[in-house]
Amino acid sequence: MNTLHFRNFQKKDTQRLAELAVDAWPIVSSLVPVDDIPKIMKAYLEINRIGSTWHEIATINDRVVGFLFGKLEQDQQFIDKIRAIIPNLYILFKIIIGRYGRLSEPFIFLEKLFATEQKVLQYTPKAEGEIVLFVVDSEHRGKGIGKALLNRFLHRAKLVNAKMISVYTDPLSNWKFYERMGFERYGAFIDDLNTYINKVKTEGFIYITLVQ
Ligand SMILES: CC(C)(COP(=O)(O)OP(=O)(O)OC[C@H]1O[C@@H](n2cnc3c(N)ncnc32)[C@H](O)[C@@H]1OP(=O)(O)O)[C@@H](O)C(=O)NCCC(=O)NCCS
Repeated sequence: MNTLHFRNFQKKDTQRLAELAVDAWPIVSSLVPVDDIPKIMKAYLEINRIGSTWHEIATINDRVVGFLFGKLEQDQQFIDKIRAIIPNLYILFKIIIGRYGRLSEPFIFLEKLFATEQKVLQYTPKAEGEIVLFVVDSEHRGKGIGKALLNRFLHRAKLVNAKMISVYTDPLSNWKFYERMGFERYGAFIDDLNTYINKVKTEGFIYITLVQ
């Protein structure tokens, strides 16, 4: 029977999640040689995983069909934030030395990444939580899996008294899903990293929802 299950992320899922993310954002192929695409996506995945407190996987017949990484302030101790710094710096170092694939301009890439992160901080209101990384397998979209993953995260948010959840998204992602789910667009800006990757001026959006 094709029953949908949910469980916590396990290290062994990394490869599959990177595949799902590459499939969701094929634009990443413009950054590195084709053999290195899964590697750079693994770095992106790892940075986002470390920065999250909620790591949920959706499976059908033990096959991973989606995941949502999220962050809730109330689930994150100060010490967790400190602990995350060293592995993140290590990943950035490995990006620079090419261990996650041969980026043609690693320093420009990192500069654009930081510029986008700054804008996300600048344009996001004070919220108690955020959706960090969220993908459903393209073969399983439109079946309510994304909605279920989102609602489970929002349920947790409610349990810990979070009032508002934000998400950074863009035209290269399915931002309309958030509008369908009742989120409102709070801000828009020229996204340095997406513009660099996409080679045309590309926006970034901040959406928010109140936790009910
Ligand atoms: C966003 C994403 C996770 C949604 O997953 P999904 O499983 O296809 O979504 P669901 O089937 O649960 O859709 C829930 C509802 O949103 C609607 N919806 C989804 N995409 C939509 C779109 N582009 N426009 C309008 N409505 C949309 C569905 O029709 C459904 O409506 P309903 O509740 O009335 O039936 C998936 O599209 C995805 O992985 N996209 C690529 C990665 C991405 O963009 N992630 C978000 C990054 S911030």
